[in-house]
Amino acid sequence: MAEPLEVQSLNSYYGSAQALFDVSLQVAPGEAVVLLGRNGAGKSTTLKSIMGLVPRREGRLRFGERDIAAMQAYRIARLGLGYVPEERRVFAALTVEENLLVGQKEQTKSGDGRTNPWSFERLFQLFPNLAELRGRLGGHISGGEQQMLTIARTLMGNPSLLLLDEPSEGLAPIIVQQLGAAIKELKDMGLSLLLSEQNLKFASAIGDRAYVLESGHVRFAGTVDQLLADEEGRRRWLSL
Ligand SMILES: Nc1ncnc2c1ncn2[C@@H]1O[C@H](COP(=O)(O)OP(=O)(O)OP(=O)(O)O)[C@@H](O)[C@H]1O
Ligand SMILES: [Mg+2]
Repeated sequence: MAEPLEVQSLNSYYGSAQALFDVSLQVAPGEAVVLLGRNGAGKSTTLKSIMGLVPRREGRLRFGERDIAAMQAYRIARLGLGYVPEERRVFAALTVEENLLVGQKEQTKSGDGRTNPWSFERLFQLFPNLAELRGRLGGHISGGEQQMLTIARTLMGNPSLLLLDEPSEGLAPIIVQQLGAAIKELKDMGLSLLLSEQNLKFASAIGDRAYVLESGHVRFAGTVDQLLADEEGRRRWLSL
């Protein structure tokens, strides 16, 4: 079973510039939570702060019983947090299959005793596009395929909570649809998800609950249905 993520009064900084102000959010085990907001609202900073990838963060950050507020990124990853950054970074000179093996290597180090359901076969079931591309170089596949590969590589590390930073950004509608189906399947498997998005339609098809950020502040916290019903709020925070 996954563990709950709890973020309370998170303040994050880049040098002397504060990017997040008292951000609080929770992800319960098996829950899909979406983090919405315009460009520069603080979505990526929130995910990076959880992973320990910002220069300075303060506040209460817990994953299950563990205090991760002062923990280093590699240790946080080993607790079962899988992070897929905005700049879907694949190893261009490695094949698709080799890219996946890189993710697996990280996993064997974790030694946390959880069994890993992810084999190549399972991943290729989840992302059928990748199956035919096993031997292709990471640098020679499309942006959508690279996004899928980045998620698949992260899954090889057997996360119980997946943090996805704007996975649908810049992808063609058909690819976005395939990606959405795969992410929903992950949710159905019991993985906890924290998904940052600007695409409300995509996010609302996946998320149970939503948070909306504006200028580093949480402006909305509620169910996805409540957000969809809040026309005024959507216009103000999301320009939708
Ligand atoms: N490396 C950095 N150094 C300095 N300031 C940064 C850095 N990264 C982000 N910021 C600032 O922090 C704030 C939040 O940025 P962040 O990237 O978290 O927003 P975002 O919601 O992810 O935006 P986008 O939708 O464009 O990805 C912005 O004001 C941004 O300029
Ligand atoms: Mg971002």
